[in-house]
Amino acid sequence: MIKSTIEISASIMCINWLNVQADLDILIKEKIDYLHWDIIDGQFASDFTMGSSIINTLLPYSNIPSDYHLMVENPSRLFDSFQTHPGDIFTIHQESTRNLHRDIIKIRQMGLRVGVAISPGTSIETLRYVLEDLDIVLVMTVNPGFKGQKIIPQTISKINDLKQMINKYGLTTKIQVDGSVNNQYIPDMVAAGADILVGGSSGLFRKDLNLPKSIETMRIQAKIGLERRRGHCHLDLV
Ligand code: DX5
Ligand code: ZN
Repeated sequence: MIKSTIEISASIMCINWLNVQADLDILIKEKIDYLHWDIIDGQFASDFTMGSSIINTLLPYSNIPSDYHLMVENPSRLFDSFQTHPGDIFTIHQESTRNLHRDIIKIRQMGLRVGVAISPGTSIETLRYVLEDLDIVLVMTVNPGFKGQKIIPQTISKINDLKQMINKYGLTTKIQVDGSVNNQYIPDMVAAGADILVGGSSGLFRKDLNLPKSIETMRIQAKIGLERRRGHCHLDLV
């Protein structure tokens, strides 16, 4: 297995639903870092995905930590719906809540790791006064809602800007990237500062490659990106 410090979160909305158990077995065997649960309410983003009944049914099948991505209006109404465990990540959208800081504190009080997601049109500056309270910032590289969308290219430089902002304030906040995370873009995303990659339909649950192979390929691409990032850091210091 190729080791890198970049983590992979498997987007379960993109799993082969006719083969869920076998796919989960592979994710367990390959030591995938998180199961990414996309929860969509048809309002904040169109379409519907999984609710608590489906997620809570699948949860006991593995010990892989959960990574909840709530694409819903007023997310705090759903905070108690899931069977969470310490170490799970709970990510809400900056654009979806009337009181971002209050919701961040609530998630922290639940003993979970706190993430805030920003859609492609949202500036990183909107997080300036909450950044120190976050474990993770999720940079959406497509608009939330559907798998298989084309990347919005300027979001790659957003990852880089966010990384610089995190460094500037001496924080250890991790950057997660979601949407079109595939071989074409992983090296650029990681070189720009991505720490956690959400593997969806284009990078992980691919039609043209089996799951163990696509995990291996994502890890190779992440390593290439990490080497580029470290190269940049070295040059910056010179
Ligand atoms: C998009 C979802 C993603 C999805 C994207 O709203 O949040 O989790 O998995 O993956 P791709 O772009 O590769 O289909
Ligand atoms: Zn997601």
